[in-house]
Amino acid sequence: MSLSVEVRELTKVFGDLVAVDHATFSVKRGEIFGLLGPNGAGKSTLFRMLCTVLRPTYGTAKVEGHDILKETNEVRKVIGVVQEKLILYAPLTPIENLTFFGKLYGVEDDVLKRKIEELLQEAKLWEVRDKPVGIFSSGMRQRVNIIRALLHDPKLLMLDEPTNTLDPQSVRWVRDYIKALRDRGLTIILTSHDMYEIDELAEEVAIMDRGKIIAVGGKEELKNKYSTDKFEEVFLALTGRTLRDELSGRLKRRGW
Ligand SMILES: Nc1ncnc2c1ncn2[C@@H]1O[C@H](COP(=O)(O)OP(=O)(O)OP(=O)(O)O)[C@@H](O)[C@H]1O
Ligand SMILES: [Mg+2]
Repeated sequence: MSLSVEVRELTKVFGDLVAVDHATFSVKRGEIFGLLGPNGAGKSTLFRMLCTVLRPTYGTAKVEGHDILKETNEVRKVIGVVQEKLILYAPLTPIENLTFFGKLYGVEDDVLKRKIEELLQEAKLWEVRDKPVGIFSSGMRQRVNIIRALLHDPKLLMLDEPTNTLDPQSVRWVRDYIKALRDRGLTIILTSHDMYEIDELAEEVAIMDRGKIIAVGGKEELKNKYSTDKFEEVFLALTGRTLRDELSGRLKRRGW
């Protein structure tokens, strides 16, 4: 099977902190690849290096055959990126937002118009196409944000914790949409700290902790290796910590 992404020893150092430590893995074409790890593991840092917004300290990666260091523009053309932060203009309608981003990507006017209608229909937002996105619920805004990343027909869609802080109905839509896109042939990289999300969506998984990829492989292969049918137990076996510990650490950091 051909590879969409090949990551070799990718490393990012911030001062004394090795945020990503010699990450090496591959992503097969047409699969959902889950990057799973607790708060602060280094997922977003690795994600940003792959989408060429952050320069690695060491190592490299190829995305659809293009080197992230030497062929930055080629990489950007073939990826669709959904970062943790929303990138939309609140006073503009979905159509205006999507038209703006589609033009940035150089999509031709007639193709763009057709694509925007098709995607807004899929996201169940056609009825509200003329309302400013500032009045939308967070779930509706995230739907616009996700389809924004698809306007230029990318080969690889990358999503950084796309269901974080969404209501259950919106989480369901995002997960089902990711599966539908994979079924249409898109390759997908998804980061999450939610074992159940990765378990539901991903075929291949990399588990990341404190900057290191501590396990990588097929989801079933990893579960078999640790004699369990639950990712929570794979994570516990690898790190000696439970998700509950991670959650309480996260709440403490937020001063709760
Ligand atoms: N620009 C930066 N400068 C300094 N340190 C950074 C920078 N970006 C991230 N870090 C640090 O690198 C580590 C990894 O952060 P990163 O955001 O990649 O983790 P994450 O797995 O995405 O976490 P989360 O689940 O909270 O999104 C953290 O300790 C973070 O504080
Ligand atoms: Mg992150």
